[in-house]
Amino acid sequence: MRIAIIGGGYVGLVSGACFADLGVEVAIVEVDPLKLAALRQGRIPIFEPGLDRLVEENAKAGRLSFGDDIAAAVAGVDVVFIAVGTPTRRGDGHADLSYVYAAVEQVAANLQAYTVVVTKSTVPVGTGRQIGRLLQELRPDLEVDVASNPEFLREGSAIGDFMRPDRVVIGTASERAREVLRQLYRPLYLIETPIVFTGLETAELIKYAANAYLAMKVTYINEVADLCERVGADVHDVARGIGLDGRIGRKFLHPGPGFGGSCFPKDTLALVRIAQDAGAPLRLVETVVSVNDARKAGMGGRIVSACGGSVRGRTIGVLGLAFKPETDDMREAPSLGIVHRLVEDGAHVRVFDPAAMQQARPLLPEGVAYCDDAIDVATGADALVLVTEWNEFRAIAPERLRQCMNGRVVIDLRNVFDPLAMCEAGFVYHSIGRTASERRVDDEVDGLPALTWQRNVGDVASSGRRVLS
Ligand SMILES: NC(=O)c1ccc[n+]([C@@H]2O[C@H](COP(=O)([O-])OP(=O)(O)OC[C@H]3O[C@@H](n4cnc5c(N)ncnc54)[C@H](O)[C@@H]3O)[C@@H](O)[C@H]2O)c1
Repeated sequence: MRIAIIGGGYVGLVSGACFADLGVEVAIVEVDPLKLAALRQGRIPIFEPGLDRLVEENAKAGRLSFGDDIAAAVAGVDVVFIAVGTPTRRGDGHADLSYVYAAVEQVAANLQAYTVVVTKSTVPVGTGRQIGRLLQELRPDLEVDVASNPEFLREGSAIGDFMRPDRVVIGTASERAREVLRQLYRPLYLIETPIVFTGLETAELIKYAANAYLAMKVTYINEVADLCERVGADVHDVARGIGLDGRIGRKFLHPGPGFGGSCFPKDTLALVRIAQDAGAPLRLVETVVSVNDARKAGMGGRIVSACGGSVRGRTIGVLGLAFKPETDDMREAPSLGIVHRLVEDGAHVRVFDPAAMQQARPLLPEGVAYCDDAIDVATGADALVLVTEWNEFRAIAPERLRQCMNGRVVIDLRNVFDPLAMCEAGFVYHSIGRTASERRVDDEVDGLPALTWQRNVGDVASSGRRVLS
């Protein structure tokens, strides 16, 4: 089969490379000249593990090409995927569909025979039907079908998600389009991927409903974490205790500074608007949006309090900037609000992220110091804040941090460090949802049972290990 993909961003590039790897001939159309030049030279403009190799191999094999000539790309293809951005429209929270409709118009002008036009971009309910009308209006001479095939890949594990998805959703009213897409996804069907065929509107809504549900789960555990801090419970134990219930599931129950990224914030907001316009408001999702906004806005203040109420003149190290690990994506990252607040409050801020330094620079305020690694960030810092849970931060020995830091406050917004080890190293350690807890773990010291404990309330931290004889 031959396909064209309009938009060579995260979704277009990953889907294109993966389809090519499954044996499909793929032409990716990208308008950004810098991105296109990079792709043509074999450089990947985004950070995504494994993508460089996949692109290189498939480009070399002649199955994957990049260009800006839409006429050449769509000529004779079976399917055209629209994978352009659908950011939040300025001012009202609706999805901005200007890139989608611009792409549809360009595609319509260049189609030569029956083609299935598929939205892979996340688009509001009703968009597919509107695209169908537009195509009919622009090309009354041609038979064209429209389908919705929302993408569920996650940045950071995008290739695995695309190649072994939980499901593929295909929404269309046309049996012919369904057959074409069934053929395209046959390699995934053969590995027993459930293919969910629906109508257009249903497929469009599935994507928003899925993202909003996950955002709600994250927001729920964040609020539970706040409650844990007040009542002396441990949010990880609560998450495990509820997550082992098969009806709830363990994923997306990790507390943190609030969700960010390219999808959850804009998709929850768009779903709120879709539901309001349809006269069936989703109050739960409305609340998720406002609770998450408030949480992110409050994180800077939380750090300032942990530093004793003021950070003026203090040096604060920030570990991690990207909205999550294994990506360089800075869209709506919680680190943005945090760094801005600290700088506004007069702190000297030192930052490091393994992948997102370049993306972060234009978004962070003047005066921020960009460091070479985690130890560089920590060196001389009065307080250290962990914002993104990159694996390389997990491996840092608390004693090593203690040696190079000036102060002893650590604010761990992802609960990466072991509270006991941090307390033993002499840190005043703050984390999420377990700061007011007392933890008891039975273990052994020299063959004798031991009681290990830590207590960390407010600014007072203490820890110890008592051997029971
Ligand atoms: N990023 C994710 O993890 C993810 C996951 C699932 C779904 N989605 C959805 O997929 C869509 C794309 O997201 P993304 O993160 O890949 O966006 P992106 O901004 O990384 O990529 C979009 C690309 O499209 C290009 N483009 C815009 N108009 C074009 C045109 N007319 N012709 C050719 N190229 C054009 C842009 O230059 C850009 O490179 C969005 O609707 C998003 O919500 C994203």
